[in-house]
Amino acid sequence: MKLTDSVNVLLLGSGGREHAFAWKISQSPRVARLFIAPGNAGTAALGTNVDLSPSNFGSIKQFVINNSINLVVVGPEESLVKGIYDFFHEDSDIHHVPVIGPSALGAKLEGSKDFAKAFMARHGIPTAAYRSFTKETLDKGYAFLESLKAPYVLKADGLAAGKGVLIVDDLDEAKRELREMLGGKFGAAGNTVVIEECLKGIECSVFVATDGEHFAVLPEAKDYKRIGEGDTGLNTGGMGAVSPVPFADEAFMQRVRDEIIVPTVAGLRAEKIDYKGFIFIGLMNDGGKPYVIEYNVRMGDPETEVVLPRIESDIMGLFEGMAFGTLDKHTLKISPRTATTVVCVSGGYPGDYAKGMAISGLDQPSESTVFHAGTALKGGKVTTAGGRVLAVTSLGDTIADALARSYATIDRIDYEGKYCRRDIGQDLERLVKA
Ligand code: AMP
Ligand code: GLY
Repeated sequence: MKLTDSVNVLLLGSGGREHAFAWKISQSPRVARLFIAPGNAGTAALGTNVDLSPSNFGSIKQFVINNSINLVVVGPEESLVKGIYDFFHEDSDIHHVPVIGPSALGAKLEGSKDFAKAFMARHGIPTAAYRSFTKETLDKGYAFLESLKAPYVLKADGLAAGKGVLIVDDLDEAKRELREMLGGKFGAAGNTVVIEECLKGIECSVFVATDGEHFAVLPEAKDYKRIGEGDTGLNTGGMGAVSPVPFADEAFMQRVRDEIIVPTVAGLRAEKIDYKGFIFIGLMNDGGKPYVIEYNVRMGDPETEVVLPRIESDIMGLFEGMAFGTLDKHTLKISPRTATTVVCVSGGYPGDYAKGMAISGLDQPSESTVFHAGTALKGGKVTTAGGRVLAVTSLGDTIADALARSYATIDRIDYEGKYCRRDIGQDLERLVKA
């Protein structure tokens, strides 16, 4: 089976990741119309924004029927965890429309850390040793913490908007956090808490597209999670990303493929988990040996803003392979160039911040692609509408070269409270030079 020659696409989401998807999708000669729900000011220039929530499945169904949509691409995890794939699959009016994303069961790889850890254990996938606890087994949780060495890693089982992971140096504090998490600190997401061994090494993320049987490895990336330079301060959604990652060399990527990707896809198949989507594998590289930190069931943000610009082939071919189980017949063409993205945020983020600030300088010529993360159109003007506002992506022959372009573009853009980290990629540049 194939997609038609003129595909109407509905893309769900509103961040920088979705702007990057819209940018890549709109380059395809196979696309007739592109709708983005709800989208942002950036996606509005590439297709039609639709005022629909990605988790309002009933309205999405109506829109898909009314607009002869042939393909649905899902950006955020929430819709997947809530079962949008299954909703389409089980409804005879729309089951012919492929959805790029896993079934609800597959989405538990991100939606439940306990499920993900047990899946890895069943399939011999290298990850930190762990045990899970509930309110009823609090005392056993204390005993398990006592058996570990600091630092202690505690994770709320469910989705907690990226805030559910704590890394604590002190045993008493770890016990207190465990008690508070099980007591509702992160709501129902913390009804079960995973405690795991702390891995050491350097992190990177690997992205895989799968049809549930075959897979394609997309460019890897490193992201920068903390708000402050030198990786200090609070965690954010991501302040920048670089691809490729110099330490993810051929030997490392071969181990990732053999020890992690192959058993993950085989495990999905063996467990009859319907999965036609992306797998985002957060990895620790410990002296060349990869360990899985976490799975996400979607692309990363801002990682997508460096991964897609390095893909030279038409993305509709990739989606077609994922949707119809023919990924083995698809060849992915990847650029050897380096992509960097630097995220501009609103002052105060990840705490409280203002919205509605006018953004200037977006129309000036630049050597970058400016992806909108949190923007809106107000009276024809682009304004800030989120914590992460823009992701400024550039290609270059080296990390330094790409970064110079991103920062030059950022210097021409302004809004009240603009902040970005000036040290994105510098750790990798030091590694390359060493
Ligand atoms: P997660 O939400 O699972 O990605 O965790 C957030 C961050 O916590 C990761 O990106 C890592 O930096 C860190 N982390 C999570 N689990 C571990 C672990 N077992 N050992 C060391 N660091 C970890
Ligand atoms: N940048 C991390 C994420 O998308 O989860």
